[in-house]
Amino acid sequence: MWFKPWKKDKVESLDQVAMDRLPRHIAIIMDGNGRWAQKRALPRSMGHRAGVETLRKIVKTCSKLEIQVLTVYAFSTENWKRPKDEVGVLMTLLAEYLRKELKELHQNNVVIRTMGKTKDLPLEAQRELAHAMKSTRDNTGLILNLALNYGGRSEIIDAVKSLSKEAVSGTLRIEDIDELRFSETLFTRGLPDPDLLIRTSGEMRLSNFLLWQLAYTEIVVVEELWPDFGEKALIAAIVAYQKRDRRFGGIHTN
Ligand code: FPP
Repeated sequence: MWFKPWKKDKVESLDQVAMDRLPRHIAIIMDGNGRWAQKRALPRSMGHRAGVETLRKIVKTCSKLEIQVLTVYAFSTENWKRPKDEVGVLMTLLAEYLRKELKELHQNNVVIRTMGKTKDLPLEAQRELAHAMKSTRDNTGLILNLALNYGGRSEIIDAVKSLSKEAVSGTLRIEDIDELRFSETLFTRGLPDPDLLIRTSGEMRLSNFLLWQLAYTEIVVVEELWPDFGEKALIAAIVAYQKRDRRFGGIHTN
């Protein structure tokens, strides 16, 4: 095996987190809902429902820790390939989550934001999203960024098209296209790149998630299936992140 498997430390409480070195932006690939349900001989929909409950708890913890941004992969452009019923369940859960949780999210000062082609989502989900974003836009706490109908490659292609159009129309000089300009053309404009990516359920892949933005992100893959992931597991991932030596391609100078 070429990589050193991550040995999870026993983490009991928030005391082990260095509050002055928290990740500003945490991104999560919430994987394993289906397997969680299968292990219990339950329908996959129950796994997704349990997954929403985990999301609720993790948002609360991130808020408590004063993390700036939490981006979660809730529905990818590839997820349309799932059976129609499962897609329907995911969309219903999204609308339900926003309806039921909005009050608490608002009380916790959370700002709801989305990334992805949300115009292609069912109308009910779009309505709830618009309402949630409008209601929370003046909040100043955690930004909960929901990746919905999101794909990293198509995001990059769309950015290329948009910059090309500006260049062709003469409003942008090719020489002015740099990394900052490119980043500001993506859905994540205005947000720092993720410092920490967590993927649950042990899979070691990016699955078309934030391909540009993850360039220097620390990755922590945990064995827990998403519905089993909780506050302690999140804290353990943050502690693991804090032990990493981030060099951004340079060398350590102190
Ligand atoms: C992956 O599990 C999970 C998803 C495709 C969707 C994630 C969705 C949620 C956590 C709930 C809905 C979200 C919101 C915002 C309400 P999987 O089904 O691929 O699991 P498997 O790999 O074990 O089959």
